Amino acid sequence: MINPNEYGSLLFDEQEKKYLSNVIDARRIFRYSRTPYPYTSMCEEKIKSLVGTNYCLMTTNGTSSLKSAFIGANVEKGDRVLISSYTFLATALAAIAVGAVPIPIEVDLNYGVNLEDLEKEIKLGCKALVVVHFQGRAFDLTKVKRICEKNGIVLIEDACQAFGAKFKDKYTGTFGDIGVYSFQQFKQITCGEGGCVVTNNELMFNRMRNYTDMGSTRNRFPSWDSAEALFGENDRMNNLCAAVLYAQLEKLDTIISKQRKSRENIMQKISNINNILTSKDASGDTGMNIIIILNDKKFKDKVIDMGKDNDIEFRNMWSSLYYDNELFKKYKLTSKDLKNKECIYTKELIEKMLVISIPPILNGTDEANIASLIQTIKNKGYLL
Ligand SMILES: Cc1ncc(COP(=O)(O)O)c(C=O)c1O
Repeated sequence: MINPNEYGSLLFDEQEKKYLSNVIDARRIFRYSRTPYPYTSMCEEKIKSLVGTNYCLMTTNGTSSLKSAFIGANVEKGDRVLISSYTFLATALAAIAVGAVPIPIEVDLNYGVNLEDLEKEIKLGCKALVVVHFQGRAFDLTKVKRICEKNGIVLIEDACQAFGAKFKDKYTGTFGDIGVYSFQQFKQITCGEGGCVVTNNELMFNRMRNYTDMGSTRNRFPSWDSAEALFGENDRMNNLCAAVLYAQLEKLDTIISKQRKSRENIMQKISNINNILTSKDASGDTGMNIIIILNDKKFKDKVIDMGKDNDIEFRNMWSSLYYDNELFKKYKLTSKDLKNKECIYTKELIEKMLVISIPPILNGTDEANIASLIQTIKNKGYLL
């Protein structure tokens, strides 16, 4: 495939190797050991200054970051948390892992979640809302934030798929109370497995930090002998992952500008097609893909096969809504609270949407081939 669903990893080079060697040579992988190469803390400093928050905490992955975000938000057993229905299962699993009940909210392509559905569910009570920025795009959260503030609800942004994306020059993850990113293999930048949370709220930060450090407070050594200690987990990042991520952070601008340029080149060639899904501020998109919406779900397999014939990957994001999975049905984790709720628009989007990855390694020929295939698909009447 000329457009694999990979981004930062495709530009691994001597820099990642050098930082990894530094960690090995220093023999200090644990983040809290004394070392001349504290890459975990260095990543936190770099991310804080990039996105402009007071606090950042590196963790083992996006899912553990989400769990700690719920703890930061003081979500407790049995609490309802509202979750954008258009998301990967991990968002809901993190809520369940802390004993909360994930309630899906219909997606909206401008505001992240449907405002009417949001207001309706808020009336039934909830502690937090998770809006999911998807596929390198940032939603306009102005209205959502106002609603959360008015109702005393913590706004968490799951930006696992959208690190580096902005809306009106503001980074995803910085609109609400807590932002969550993932650095797993297939994300914008990667260290294989990794994640972090960002916030401006000191209290929330301390709870998240303690939770991911086995619930301890720490002054060089952990302590459980204080009122701030809690029953936590071990979700600390190590310096090996952080070494790779630090090198990736240094390349973030290069990666995003390559993707944006390729995407722009492709879009210019298909400027007659307006069935491409962009965000409200497309200049803030990371350019990591082009999303097309099909006329009918029956065209999906055909289009995927046309892609395969041309070495171009058309990716089906997920096959169903997370709460339609057997797992949720079997354990009836949400049925009581869901009642007969159906997120019809999200379902339709999932059925008709295809993602064409734009990795930062495409050349002019690749771009022309992708544009020409999208044009063919349009000419055949498969696009909305
Ligand atoms: C929207 C969303 N949330 C959460 C996650 C979980 O992140 P991780 O795989 O790092 O645990 C992912 C990615 O896998 C994701 O796409």
